[in-house]
Amino acid sequence: MHFRKRLLASITLSLAFASALTCSTALAQKDWPTRSIQLEVPFAAGGPTDSIARLIAVPMGQYLGQTVVVENVPGAGGTIASTKVARAAPDGYTIYIHHIGMATASALYDKLSYDPLTSFEYIGQVADVPMVLMGRKDLPPNNFKELEAYIKANGAKVTMANAGPGAVSQLCGLLLQSRLGVKLTNIPYKGTGPALTDLLGGQVDLLCDQTTQIIPYIKDNRVKSYGTTTLKRLPAIPNVPTLSEQGLKGFEVKAWHGVYAPKGTPQAVLDKLNAALKFALNSPDVKKRLEDSSIDVVSMDKVTPKSLKTQLENEINAWGPIIRKANIPD
Ligand code: MLT
Repeated sequence: MHFRKRLLASITLSLAFASALTCSTALAQKDWPTRSIQLEVPFAAGGPTDSIARLIAVPMGQYLGQTVVVENVPGAGGTIASTKVARAAPDGYTIYIHHIGMATASALYDKLSYDPLTSFEYIGQVADVPMVLMGRKDLPPNNFKELEAYIKANGAKVTMANAGPGAVSQLCGLLLQSRLGVKLTNIPYKGTGPALTDLLGGQVDLLCDQTTQIIPYIKDNRVKSYGTTTLKRLPAIPNVPTLSEQGLKGFEVKAWHGVYAPKGTPQAVLDKLNAALKFALNSPDVKKRLEDSSIDVVSMDKVTPKSLKTQLENEINAWGPIIRKANIPD
């Protein structure tokens, strides 16, 4: 009898504790966010991913009533940041923006310390960013045909910047080399922000970069533009031909972006983050800024966890064989 009483009391206590815990977790989720949220960026400050992150961070913060602070965690083509986010507390105070590199990393690295498909929660797609193959201002070739002849003649003497294995600049550069059957000297940076600085300074010959901040340099002829990585010309720079129309038929690389959170982030928090992302992408300022760089904000039906997950799965399946066939990395 005595034992039964004690057992009952202990069960009652456990149930009360569990219910208090559930209540406090629910309350914590209801009140979330009560402090600033960190938006991790896998590349250096001043680059394209950083710019998009900073652009959406402000309106997302306005929607959530807390500041969204951008933190750059560059290195190893984005995989250092992905590892960090995969291991972060799933409490909604760490979120992550990454591009196509989330899909290509598994084909580029023998071993990753996270699984792109299972280590994260999905919040939504953001934008599709086209790219342009550029040269330093005083590089001799004046168009893609001349560039092709120049790099075939000079091979490894030609330098090409990228943001490391997993970066979309590296993917673009190595696909280009694979299609032309040449091997250049590839120089990794912590992001294309610093790589662009070196291209403008003439320290490196070539860079394939996203349009996010290069349009003014292209328009001012501070770099040479050899072609876009899109199948159609870009509205912001209609005079720049596509690489596809200049002989590299079907050459297409786009840096699509998505926002993620660590696996296990509560659903109620993910829902609020998704609403905040939609709010940011509907902001006229954000739309204008992206459109000026010929960046397509995705339609709202793509700003969903389901759509981002499908996009990631499709892109892993699509790029894996292309990367292996192109023998990347070399
Ligand atoms: C960056 O933000 O630096 C880029 O997205 C790097 C890249 O992937 O090329």
